[in-house]
Amino acid sequence: MEKALVLFFGLLVFTSCDTINNDVVQEDECDLPSELIQEIASYQPTVNRIIDSVTKGKHRGQPYKLLEDFIDKFGARQAGTKNLEDSIDYVFDLMRKYNLENVHGENVTVPHWIRGHESAEMLQPRKAKIAVLGLGGTISTPPEGIEAEVLVVRSFDELNQPNVSAAAKGKIIVFNNDYITYGKSVVYRSQGAVKASQHGAVAALVRSVTPFSMYTPHTGHQSYRDDVKKIPVASITVEDAKMLQRYQDKGIKAVIKLHLQSEHYPDATSRNAVGEIVGSQKPEKVVIVSGHIDSWDVGVGAMDDGGGAFISWYSLALLKSLSLQAKRTLRVVLWTAEEPGFKGVHQYEKDHKNELDNFTFVMESDEGVFTPLGIEYTAGVRGGCVLKQIVKLLEPINATSTKYYDSVGSDIAIWARKIPTASLYNTNENYFWWHHSDADRLEVLDPDNLDKATAVWAAVSFIIADLKDEFPREFNDISTLSNSKIIETLNTLKQKPTR
Ligand SMILES: *[C@@H]1O[C@H](CO)[C@@H](O)[C@H](O)[C@H]1NC(C)=O
Ligand SMILES: *[C@@H]1O[C@H](CO)[C@@H](O)[C@H](O)[C@H]1NC(C)=O
Ligand SMILES: *[C@@H]1O[C@H](CO)[C@@H](O)[C@H](O)[C@H]1NC(C)=O
Ligand SMILES: *[C@@H]1O[C@H](CO)[C@@H](O)[C@H](O)[C@H]1NC(C)=O
Repeated sequence: MEKALVLFFGLLVFTSCDTINNDVVQEDECDLPSELIQEIASYQPTVNRIIDSVTKGKHRGQPYKLLEDFIDKFGARQAGTKNLEDSIDYVFDLMRKYNLENVHGENVTVPHWIRGHESAEMLQPRKAKIAVLGLGGTISTPPEGIEAEVLVVRSFDELNQPNVSAAAKGKIIVFNNDYITYGKSVVYRSQGAVKASQHGAVAALVRSVTPFSMYTPHTGHQSYRDDVKKIPVASITVEDAKMLQRYQDKGIKAVIKLHLQSEHYPDATSRNAVGEIVGSQKPEKVVIVSGHIDSWDVGVGAMDDGGGAFISWYSLALLKSLSLQAKRTLRVVLWTAEEPGFKGVHQYEKDHKNELDNFTFVMESDEGVFTPLGIEYTAGVRGGCVLKQIVKLLEPINATSTKYYDSVGSDIAIWARKIPTASLYNTNENYFWWHHSDADRLEVLDPDNLDKATAVWAAVSFIIADLKDEFPREFNDISTLSNSKIIETLNTLKQKPTR
């Protein structure tokens, strides 16, 4: 992917079951001082308390229970809506009830685009309803809709061929790109409207970016360009994209009538939601745990990113309830407006630019909260080695793996290789089945997994905030490691952004 896109989407890798030994940093290449290894090992009783209280004790099931109440009350929480702001106020009340300190919001200007009526009907070769979901920020069709013949392409390269380009004029372009990885496939969603318009198309329909479908369209962010005529753009299901391809391959003409209505309102004010446990000795040094509070308007945003947001603030609630105060400050930040383009984190970076050097470690869970396996991270070799020692303490919940990537998280990817960052390493290989669709519901998540993930999040953030020395702030030595080439290739193949 091109650089701008990498920065914009934040590269992130989704992991499969090849766990355990596929970290770039191997333990036999670590040479941490034995005092540090002993210092980390001394946290085992603390980690056991954390684990026991949230997997067996009084906190068991609480992250899920509180998320359930939240999701059932608010449902989807789209940027720009009053519902999102009400849900943020509700989380402030929760944070205060669980004794977090300095609970407050920090203003962010966010876009406000609201989906209206949407429908599509195939008129030829037979009449049939086509499921559609407008992509974020799409313009509307004229009220009477757009009726046009369909031209299916599998790739931008195919569209660029002179005879295909010539045929595109006046058509509805259907992008039937196979799912390879999210990162490779999502460009058809983010750039499909612009590319189709450049070839004279009247609308674009993009095959949903997912490896699995039960006839569900998936929405997501897309970008127009100021110098290219805007055309309406929506996602369709994998099944319909393949059907339209079959018609075309057999020389059968397909005609679709598309209706998309939506409103672009003036920008609105939202808030990043913040709470803390102020550090006892170095309060100016901060370890951030985070997720994003907003969601798309379809489904209820339980997986993306209700789970990540709730394990994050609840980790601090749990530590507080166990009277665990670290030397450094622990800060939860629930980013707003991640979905329409990382608006919350970008504002936060501006507002806190003098504090960035004091951010010891930044964590974000936005890749699902399935069975936790450990920690994914962006740091140098010494940082990787420290994390390996820390996750050993998570043996009681089998979350002892680490995995290096060039960038982790979604919002926090803007700090990759500037600040050590981490994400929850979990069995999220099916994440994109539900992502940005009506199927992102509470039932995707599991209470026991949320408990374990909360334990990982609380234990790792607490130890890093409490260690005598700063977490190593170095990034430059990963490529010298013996197995880094193999792993890096593996990672490149799997690279995916989250949005
Ligand atoms: C945040 O936004 C609200 C509502 O728009 C406004 O009343 C308040 O003054 C803003 N706060 C800051 C610190 O700018
Ligand atoms: C473009 O040309 C290729 C062969 O050169 C052909 O297979 C394809 O069907 C043509 N596509 C269109 C839309 O004319
Ligand atoms: C960052 O930390 C240093 C000392 O560790 C402190 O002097 C400075 O005020 C802190 N900066 C901010 C913005 O908190
Ligand atoms: C950890 O893994 C072991 C061996 O696979 C299994 O017996 C145990 O139940 C697991 N523990 C948890 C908490 O998942």
